Parts: sequence; structure tokens; C-alpha cells
Amino acid sequence: MGRRVLITGASGRLGRQLVAYAPAGVEVLAPSRSELDLLDFSAVGAYLGSMKPETVIHAAALVGGIDQVQARASEFFEVNLRIQANLIEAAKNHRVGQFCFVASSGCYPAGCPSPQREDQLWDGPPDVSLRPYAMAKRAGIEHCATIRRELGLDYFSVLPPNLIGPGREGQPATGVVPMLIERFLASMPDREVVVWGTGRARREMMDVRDAARAIWHLVGIDAVDRMPWTNLGLGESLSIAEVAATIQRVVGHTGPITFDPTKPEGVLDKCNDCTILLDSGWRPEFTFEDSVRSILAQRNV
Ligand SMILES: NC(=O)c1ccc[n+]([C@@H]2O[C@H](COP(=O)([O-])OP(=O)(O)OC[C@H]3O[C@@H](n4cnc5c(N)ncnc54)[C@H](OP(=O)(O)O)[C@@H]3O)[C@@H](O)[C@H]2O)c1
Repeated sequence: MGRRVLITGASGRLGRQLVAYAPAGVEVLAPSRSELDLLDFSAVGAYLGSMKPETVIHAAALVGGIDQVQARASEFFEVNLRIQANLIEAAKNHRVGQFCFVASSGCYPAGCPSPQREDQLWDGPPDVSLRPYAMAKRAGIEHCATIRRELGLDYFSVLPPNLIGPGREGQPATGVVPMLIERFLASMPDREVVVWGTGRARREMMDVRDAARAIWHLVGIDAVDRMPWTNLGLGESLSIAEVAATIQRVVGHTGPITFDPTKPEGVLDKCNDCTILLDSGWRPEFTFEDSVRSILAQRNV
């Protein structure tokens, strides 16, 4: 790992935690979008040329849920493709020695058996619901892998699952956990809470602080020991019933929870295989309950 590290997307959810968890002795460069617009290739080149980072962690992206990706499909494809291509190519031109590209577990093929292993990434196209976003991310993974092969530079990607825990101030958190928290809070103290699906669907929940810790861990590993892309996560999933029970306990709701199997619940199990990450010595620090408490704490500010 270089001593001078550029973190893109530092105002974002993951970027903020990357800045917060930067190891001692690392000089962090964290330009805002107004200081460095990643859509501007010449500005990106000029920035790298003058600031000379030794490592880049690319956490900037256009990010959103399925609804947003579907409503603005071409924009999600174009923006993500362009900002990552600009930065990866400029980093190559300036011979930045190390580059960590933050991709997504959404890049895995639709219907990939769970847990999803790194060697299954190219077994089929990603799910149609997220395809524009996932295909752009796949291009970034391949871009880094080609530079790694051709030039021997330490360019690699990480594939995080859905991230929970602290978000961005002033922006409502999205996804199943914040949504369920709101539903329990609206039903306090003991009114019935109806949860969509059977409760048996399983989801991987990684705290965004652990994702930042895992990225710094991987960035610090000797380049020769590295895969061109590595899954992030805990290697285990929680059922929606377990998720609901934990939220209920943490918020102090005492009413009944009812599952409605007539409502859709999505894929039954989706989890990253994290053998490579865990074998490299990394361990999570935050429990699911910690993540729920952090969402509640931020909500109450
Ligand atoms: N959140 C998840 O559950 C999740 C799961 C898997 C993977 N990921 C990946 O993790 C990374 C971080 O996600 P996140 O949740 O932290 O996203 P986020 O909160 O939406 O933050 C995105 C960041 O990118 C910056 N950005 C966007 N376009 C830019 C541009 N043209 N120039 C400069 N900066 C730009 C944003 O700046 P502004 O503040 O100016 O908008 C913001 O700092 C992304 O690559 C995402 O695909 C996230």
C-alpha cells in the first residue's frame, strides 16, 4: 500500500467510512465532486499528475436501488462506465502502483448458486433488474484485471454485498433493514407488523464500517498474494425472520410479527463466499445488531 491514498466518493456512504478507518500513517486525499469531477478525463489526469497518489480506492459511483436503476438505466450504465474508465485509465497513464475498484456482488450471474464464489463471476449475465449498473461494474473489474496482467500493477476489485449501518446525513437510508425499522417504529409499542414473504428468504448484511475495514485490509496485503477480484462480506446470511426479530428487540416493539407469503420476497438466498477474505486473516467487527443501532442513532440525530 502506498502512503498517499486517493479515496474517490469520500462524501458517500462507504467513502466516509474509508476515510474514518484509514490506517495511521496514511495520507488521505479525499476531493469532493466540485474539486474533482470524475466525468472529466483531463481533470482526472491533471489531478493524479499533481497529487501523485500511490494508491487509489475508487468508491465513487452512481448508486441506487432496483427502482432507480430501472428508471434511469442508460444513465446508470453511462456514468459508472465513464467515471471508472476515466480514473482507471488515468491511473494507468500516471503509473499509480495500486488501484482498488469497488464493484458489487450484483455483478454475479442471475441465479448463481449461493454462496457466490469469485470463480463464478463470468458464468452468466447479471440479473436483468440491475443489469446496466452491474455490466458497467463488470467492465471496471475487467479493466483492472487487464492492467494487472499487462503491466503487473496491483490493480484489483472488491465485490461488496448490500451495505448497512451508518449512512449519509440528510439522506434517507433505503433497503430492507431501514424499511423494516421504519415499519416497527410506526407500529410502536405493540401493533402488528406485517413482513412481506415467508420470512425464510436469506440476505447477507455487511456493515459499511466492516466493508471499509476489509478494503483497507486487502489494500495492505502483499500484491503477489492477491486475486484480481475478491468478495467482501461475512460469508453468512440472515433470514428475514431473524432480521425482523432483531429489529423488534432493538427498537423495543412488543407486538406480533406476521409474514405474508402472498407478497414477493425475491431470491431465496444470496450470499458471497468469503473464504478468500477470511483466509487472508480479516474478521468482521460489527454485528447485525450494531448496524441496526447505528441506523437508529443516525435517525434520531
Ligand atoms: N451501498 C451499497 O449497499 C453498496 C453495495 C455494493 C457495492 N457498492 C459500491 O460501493 C461504492 C460506494 O457506494 P455508496 O453506497 O457509498 O454510494 P453513495 O453514498 O451514493 O456515494 C457515491 C459517491 O460517489 C460520488 N460521485 C458520484 N459521481 C461522481 C462524479 N462524477 N465525480 C466525483 N464523485 C462522484 C458522490 O459524490 P456526491 O456526494 O457529490 O454525490 C459520492 O461521494 C460504489 O461503487 C457502489 O457501487 C455499494
